[in-house]
Amino acid sequence: MDKLTLKDVNLKDKIVLVRADFNVPQDDKLNITDDTRIRATLPTIRYILQNGAKKVILMSHLGRPDGKVVEKYSLKPVALRLKELLGEPVKFLNDCAGEGIKQEINAAAEKVVLLENLRFHAEEEANDANFAKQLANLGDVFVNDAFGTAHRAHASTEGVAHYLKAAAGFLLEKEIKYLGSAVQNPERPFMVILGGAKVSDKIGVIENLLPQCDSILIGGGMAYTFLKAQGKTIGNSKLEKDKLDLAKNILDRASELKKEILLPIDNVVVGNIASDAKIENVGENIPEGKIAVDIGPKTIALFQNKLKSAKTIVWNGPLGIFEMDAFAKGTQEVAKFIATLKTKVIIGGGDTAAAIVKFKLEDKMTHISTGGGASLEFLEGKTLPGIAALSEV
Ligand code: 3PG
Repeated sequence: MDKLTLKDVNLKDKIVLVRADFNVPQDDKLNITDDTRIRATLPTIRYILQNGAKKVILMSHLGRPDGKVVEKYSLKPVALRLKELLGEPVKFLNDCAGEGIKQEINAAAEKVVLLENLRFHAEEEANDANFAKQLANLGDVFVNDAFGTAHRAHASTEGVAHYLKAAAGFLLEKEIKYLGSAVQNPERPFMVILGGAKVSDKIGVIENLLPQCDSILIGGGMAYTFLKAQGKTIGNSKLEKDKLDLAKNILDRASELKKEILLPIDNVVVGNIASDAKIENVGENIPEGKIAVDIGPKTIALFQNKLKSAKTIVWNGPLGIFEMDAFAKGTQEVAKFIATLKTKVIIGGGDTAAAIVKFKLEDKMTHISTGGGASLEFLEGKTLPGIAALSEV
């Protein structure tokens, strides 16, 4: 990597300012329901502590409070979980910038400090230069470990890197290594599984990966715009009418490039989307009034049969409404199958990562990205501002 990484930095006696992505899901009582993102940053925090740093100042956003203090978006619960996971005291400060924060950091007996939600200040998302300078003023060196937020040009991800030596943390480095190697230098056959509700969310990924991959396997709601473009009937299944021409173009382009696109050959359909809805299996054509909610057993077998020869698999987007157990089979069976392969498997973050966690297969995948939007933009071939802003080696 041509960017500075944690191991390139002398940490001795330094106050290290770390941007993490602690934007974790919580229930109504603000209990953290998935602490993957906190766990994922532990190696970076531990390394900094073990290499002589004076203090680690952690900063993050949580939710979208839009520049106002919104109590439910406080990072206080994260401080408690971090303390448990790290096994070290963590000092939580009620703000992240402004008068007194620097003194509070200096006065803290704890080596690890977590600042309150950056997005309580509108200047964070505006990438305000003065706010970025205030943040930079809190530390001697900046480490960005927030891959999940690397696609945002905010004060704590992009702005701050202009005022301090800026290095990638271990998580950010790992994400770049796995996503980057899959996209730039994949072992072949390289197959991409795409799903999720909308074609429009995946156009950039298809355009970037179609020339580079060998096959694309499509399921989820987005598949039905493609099936409609092929002249199939899709009942009341998800359709993006304004993307029909685009879907046709993608199919034509794939055949020009001699790339294979696999679409569902059978489907699980219902009359209405409810967990107790009556389920039917139908072929490629979906009857009037029916909604496709999952790929069918023949498609599962087709996809498994294809994937067994892959050397690299990138998966972004579930193949059905996996959140509802009745419609999770396609996503689950494909996930279970690829978990048995000796293949490099890269899972995009967001819904796909949530599905893999739901099926308890997270230890079986080569890499599960902690970034939803960020991994999508990376796979689209975009430059992520949080990475671009890091110091050159
Ligand atoms: C995410 O969860 O995708 C990141 O934390 C970024 O959050 P955002 O979409 O609110 O910027």
